[in-house]
Amino acid sequence: MSDSSAVDTVTTTGLVSLRDVNKHFGDLHVLKDINLSIGKGEVVVVIGPSGSGKSTLCRAINRLEPIDSGTIMLDGQPLPGEGKALAKLRADVGMVFQSFNLFAHKTILQNVTLGPMKVRGQSRSEAEENARALLERVGVAAQADKYPAQLSGGQQQRVAIARALAMDPKVMLFDEPTSALDPEMINEVLDVMIGLARQSMTMIVVTHEMGFARKAANRVVFMADGQIVEEAEPERFFTDPQTKRAQDFLSKILTH
Ligand SMILES: Nc1ncnc2c1ncn2[C@@H]1O[C@H](COP(=O)(O)OP(=O)(O)OP(=O)(O)O)[C@@H](O)[C@H]1O
Ligand SMILES: [Mg+2]
Repeated sequence: MSDSSAVDTVTTTGLVSLRDVNKHFGDLHVLKDINLSIGKGEVVVVIGPSGSGKSTLCRAINRLEPIDSGTIMLDGQPLPGEGKALAKLRADVGMVFQSFNLFAHKTILQNVTLGPMKVRGQSRSEAEENARALLERVGVAAQADKYPAQLSGGQQQRVAIARALAMDPKVMLFDEPTSALDPEMINEVLDVMIGLARQSMTMIVVTHEMGFARKAANRVVFMADGQIVEEAEPERFFTDPQTKRAQDFLSKILTH
């Protein structure tokens, strides 16, 4: 009895919840007892030095990386290991990476309609109608019939966001979505993400863009050496970090 109610508490705490998650690459311990719960509609920024495990954390939530121990739950369900259930999970977790990984030989419209038709079983007309509305929302509707190489990096990244949204995901993961962009294109992508946050999309965002964190995040999670070292509301984290690790890290990024 007490055991099952303990599990119930865990499953109801967050839309995404990680309990005692551990992950190794060979001898390297990259995620160390990670405990993190993200509520519905919450926007969490993950920040930390290179190699601290931020991308691995995102990839584990999408099950692109298996974990060694612990549990990851999405909307009350443990992540499935394989098969159809895993494909469904991937559709529920939208992911946007640093490099715009659009299909080069498909048009922008086809990039956005492919998943919904294949995985969600939408008809072409339904998928196209939805895709055009999403391309409009991210400001690239005029590019629908072009190929990815004909678009700027910022436009491609906005298409990648539209493509992820087309699956109607429960949560969106962003792994340094602006770090490969020329400076003038960063804001157009961040603005789309800020818009999503304002519309209560649940988001986990790996970024060092403090402006985004301040405007849109409910919480900053600071990782170092595979551990969550500090968690705080953004203003507090940036102005009054509590740990030496966070203070050192911020003093480095603030001097740029
Ligand atoms: N497939 C892999 N095989 C072996 N080691 C890996 C693999 N992927 C990541 N690592 C190692 O795991 C550690 C965490 O990597 P991860 O990419 O999660 O860090 P990160 O915080 O995202 O860093 P960055 O800010 O540079 O993107 C690093 O030491 C990295 O070299
Ligand atoms: Mg990374």
